[in-house]
Amino acid sequence: MELSGRVVVVTGGTRGVGAGIARSFAEAGAEVVVCARRPPEVPLPKARFAPLDVRDADAVRHFFAALPRLDVLVNNAGGAPYRLLADAGPERHLRVLELNLLAPLTVSLAAHEHLRRTRGSIVMIGSVSGGRPSPGTAAYGAAKAGLENLARSMAVEWAPDVRVNTLVVGMVRTERSQLHYGDEEGIAAVSRSVPLGRLAEPSDVGAAAVFLASNAAAYISGASLLVHGGGERPAFLDAASVNKET
Ligand SMILES: NC(=O)c1ccc[n+]([C@@H]2O[C@H](COP(=O)([O-])OP(=O)(O)OC[C@H]3O[C@@H](n4cnc5c(N)ncnc54)[C@H](OP(=O)(O)O)[C@@H]3O)[C@@H](O)[C@H]2O)c1
Repeated sequence: MELSGRVVVVTGGTRGVGAGIARSFAEAGAEVVVCARRPPEVPLPKARFAPLDVRDADAVRHFFAALPRLDVLVNNAGGAPYRLLADAGPERHLRVLELNLLAPLTVSLAAHEHLRRTRGSIVMIGSVSGGRPSPGTAAYGAAKAGLENLARSMAVEWAPDVRVNTLVVGMVRTERSQLHYGDEEGIAAVSRSVPLGRLAEPSDVGAAAVFLASNAAAYISGASLLVHGGGERPAFLDAASVNKET
């Protein structure tokens, strides 16, 4: 995929999935800007860092107004700690919705005029949590479900100038995997539950994002692409007392 001359902004591109996405775009020849609240701890060669809190609408507007050009926006900043619904007040859950749903909307609106001019595209980083119950991260799952729907509406409203797609991401191996899956033993056990036998690498998500942003995806808009290694085996198959050979 050749993206030289294209300018790409990856929100939350300083670590984890976002850093993998930033690397993939840089390898494809794009000029990459990563933004987050803090600079990357591990230097990201070939990416420029810009400090930005994506929940701060004024700061987001200023950031995009100062940008000379934009071809691709990757709305990646997101996430949530494990917390049962009844264990926190509504303010905590609202913060999760703010980061995972409202901020991508704010950022996309601020980037729209640039993308209209360059006939660019937006890639939303969604999650399989948005398509199934998400106990422990309920507000996050609801936000990711909303994000995918937002992308589909945006794809219609902003066509034909701007393409908008979602990557529906499964479990990814990052510096912080232990927060979600535990130690190496936990990660190995979780990996065995994935049909492809491993968690995704950030580069797997990056490769899919580069594809969606490239000319190879010129007729793809309003789509959701599953990057989950084959999905989840239905739990009832193992619980049932028949049909054990599947
Ligand atoms: N990891 C997985 O298994 C997985 C699975 C499915 C989907 N995803 C999705 O992939 C994306 C990245 O997840 P991750 O696991 O890589 O998360 P992560 O390691 O926690 O990284 C999150 C990134 O977002 C930035 N960020 C957080 N809050 C921000 C804010 N208010 N403004 C600007 N930047 C902010 C962080 O930097 P600062 O803290 O310095 O701001 C960091 O760069 C998320 O959308 C997540 O939902 C991840």
